[in-house]
Amino acid sequence: MSTEKTDLAIFTTGNPNNKPIVFVHGFPYDHTMWNKQIDELKSHYYCVTYDIRGLGESPIGDGQYTMESFVDDLEAIINELKLDKPVLCGLSMGGYISLRAVERNESLFGGLILCDTRSASDTNEGKIKRAENIKKINTLGVKHFVSEFVPHCFSVKSITDANEEYSKVLNKSLNSNAIGVKGCLLAMAGRTDTTSYLSKINIPSLLLCGEDDRLTPPDSMELMAGQIPNAQFEIVPGAGHMAPIENASFVTNKIKKFLGRLPL
Ligand code: MLT
Repeated sequence: MSTEKTDLAIFTTGNPNNKPIVFVHGFPYDHTMWNKQIDELKSHYYCVTYDIRGLGESPIGDGQYTMESFVDDLEAIINELKLDKPVLCGLSMGGYISLRAVERNESLFGGLILCDTRSASDTNEGKIKRAENIKKINTLGVKHFVSEFVPHCFSVKSITDANEEYSKVLNKSLNSNAIGVKGCLLAMAGRTDTTSYLSKINIPSLLLCGEDDRLTPPDSMELMAGQIPNAQFEIVPGAGHMAPIENASFVTNKIKKFLGRLPL
């Protein structure tokens, strides 16, 4: 584990003596996607979240990120804040980071919550799509890419109901840095496959997936959950890929109940 002080933007809420939870956001968002969960959990848990390198308020650097360097960053935060066996909660790209972090060093963690994510690495088709998106950012700009990508992350209902949260996420993401976004696309394209580790996971696990998630659909997450010993799987009604935002109360309640069952 790294012992260097991290330069990432870290946000902590609640009493550091309480059980820690680390929230890892998805792409191309920032830590604020967990605001609703943290608001509800902060009185009983020490809630830690951060902006993944290249996104939000974290430094961009050279944009040469890997899934391994993202896990290094997460470990550095755990080390710096001296978190004792935090529960790790990641959505989508945050889920890739979380799964790989647990595979690398499971003894660091007290539990795992995965939202709208997958263990499989990118297929050839997926890698080609990432390359096309990088080309699109180079030719048409990051705003163009983001304005095409974000609508796929929400259920059609969330968008047509003019969900205020949808507009918030879209507007924030439109300001993402092109180097940071391209770096994340490359890191995701180059990540390893963690599927063979699922059956070895030995910490309590909760998996949540929006019923209308078009990027990481419920049937693929249910298959993942089936491979993790004693994992709990929940479908989030009325939500797409951004379940913690689209149906915040359902997700928060499931997380609360899951955390309540963990040993102190
Ligand atoms: C995310 O929400 O983090 C992304 O959709 C993940 C991905 O593009 O694979």
